[in-house]
Amino acid sequence: MTSPAKSQERNPDWWRSAVVFQIYPRSFADHNGDGTGDVRGIIDRLPHLVDLGVDAVWVSPWYPSPLADGGYDVSDYRDIHPDFGTLADADAFIARAHEFGLRVLIDLVPNHCSDEHPWFQAALAAGPGSPERDLFWFRDGRGDNGELPPNDWQAMFGGPAWERVIGADGRPEQWYLHLFDVRQPDWNWANPRVADEFDDILRFWFDRGIDGFRIDVADSMAKDPELPNVADGVSNLSKHVGNPLWDRPDLETIHRRWRGVADEYAESARGPRVFVSEAYLPSDRVTNYVTQGRLHTTFNFDALLCEWTAESQRNVIDLSLRSHRAVGAPCTWVLANHDNVRVATRYGKAITGMPYGPDGVEPDARRHDDEYLRALPTDLELGRRRARAAALLELALPGGAYVYQGDELGLDEVEDLPEDALQDPTWERSGHTVHGRDGCRVPIPWSGTESPFGFGPGGEPWLPMPERWAAHTVEAQENDPTSFLALYRATLTERRRNRALGDGSLTWLDSGPEVLDFVREPGFRCIVNFGPDAVPIPEDAAVLVHSGDPNSGRVEQDEAVWLSV
Ligand code: NOJ
Repeated sequence: MTSPAKSQERNPDWWRSAVVFQIYPRSFADHNGDGTGDVRGIIDRLPHLVDLGVDAVWVSPWYPSPLADGGYDVSDYRDIHPDFGTLADADAFIARAHEFGLRVLIDLVPNHCSDEHPWFQAALAAGPGSPERDLFWFRDGRGDNGELPPNDWQAMFGGPAWERVIGADGRPEQWYLHLFDVRQPDWNWANPRVADEFDDILRFWFDRGIDGFRIDVADSMAKDPELPNVADGVSNLSKHVGNPLWDRPDLETIHRRWRGVADEYAESARGPRVFVSEAYLPSDRVTNYVTQGRLHTTFNFDALLCEWTAESQRNVIDLSLRSHRAVGAPCTWVLANHDNVRVATRYGKAITGMPYGPDGVEPDARRHDDEYLRALPTDLELGRRRARAAALLELALPGGAYVYQGDELGLDEVEDLPEDALQDPTWERSGHTVHGRDGCRVPIPWSGTESPFGFGPGGEPWLPMPERWAAHTVEAQENDPTSFLALYRATLTERRRNRALGDGSLTWLDSGPEVLDFVREPGFRCIVNFGPDAVPIPEDAAVLVHSGDPNSGRVEQDEAVWLSV
């Protein structure tokens, strides 16, 4: 039987070092056999997370939703999607996770809701100029008959960020803003009712025992109320400094307000409630979000986007540590999530990410083109070798870290999903030119040799699972000491045990251009080899964890080792 995870209940700084496991509920575990993951399934599989050795879980949206954007289109912020279970299931899950010593974070989606949210339906019904419409961004169109969108903003999933409403009489009337899918209207945060409502949603879940929230698109709620065009020839998608809708100064008020709500719980038995912000911005901008009294942590997407070379990785690490140190916040490392190509596939391609110089990312348009990258062949053996090394690097760095479900199994991106199975709105909005993110959201293979691989007791999984995953199930890896799962377990066990790891600092050792080599006190050293020449392991060091062969005495190309020195 699984032993409970180390309890961190009394450590008020738990979030500075925590390893958080991301659960994408639709794809984690299916208790009732309908082909969709559910909360009962998560409860069934909690022992897997305890054995893995993580400190916390973050559950992606589990709310009622038409699932136009995988649940990031919320129609009720205070309930559970019927496909995923009930509020009673959620309460049982929170209680069980806590018994296991795991903290629980859930997703807050404050920029937009679903078009099925009752407040949006009321706004449509109430008509132009009504207080109901003021909760969203309704505007008249430009042009003689209002036939043009109010401005030039683009939606993240393609096409204009405005949709024209068709009135009850069948005639087109105002437009509403949606930065993402047309079924995700943006809230108007300038309206105090919106801010009050979200305070209340936070308290609703904190009162149920939630330890924190991951804030979806934490850089988007504040918009220039004049709604100006972005600029000739510049897209709002670039998030450039000074643009009218991303990363605006007024976000600070919103973030601080949420922090105030979380801090109401600081003295509770479970200790502080925390936030992690999701914002794809460079380290030196996003660290504004984690200044004193604002949010606690923010995903370090520079590291996720960075290519697999010693030079770029070292630059990104230095940059991230420097910008976080300047504001006194810990770094939050993340290699993957439900929006990005799985690590094993990404690192198995000729282009593995963006180049980083000492001052940040070096622009290269081709590397932003998902379809171009998708078409590049993948060497999965290479990708997996690098993904193993990357896990050791990530988990050795100062700060906290997130692990996306399935990365502990070394799963690859399912790039060959049948087109009629695709569900990401990007696929439709792009006119079937951009495949989107379904390939990293395929259900988790737990056991057995054929689909649904123990994901559920039967039933057709909501996305088809590839036959090749028979070799990558939890069951297949469980007793194999060379497996991905064994590596993750050994690494996380060592991380819990080792006082040098988690929050703190590192010191680089002189290692030449193709090797990263650093020490952390007391007595820890990590070597990552990106080059063809094997690096000998010093004789007076003991191997704690090795991504390759622990008895080789060397660190080969694309391998990493943790040493006790
Ligand atoms: C970020 C989420 O991770 C992504 O899945 C979603 O589509 C957008 N935000 C919009 O909510």
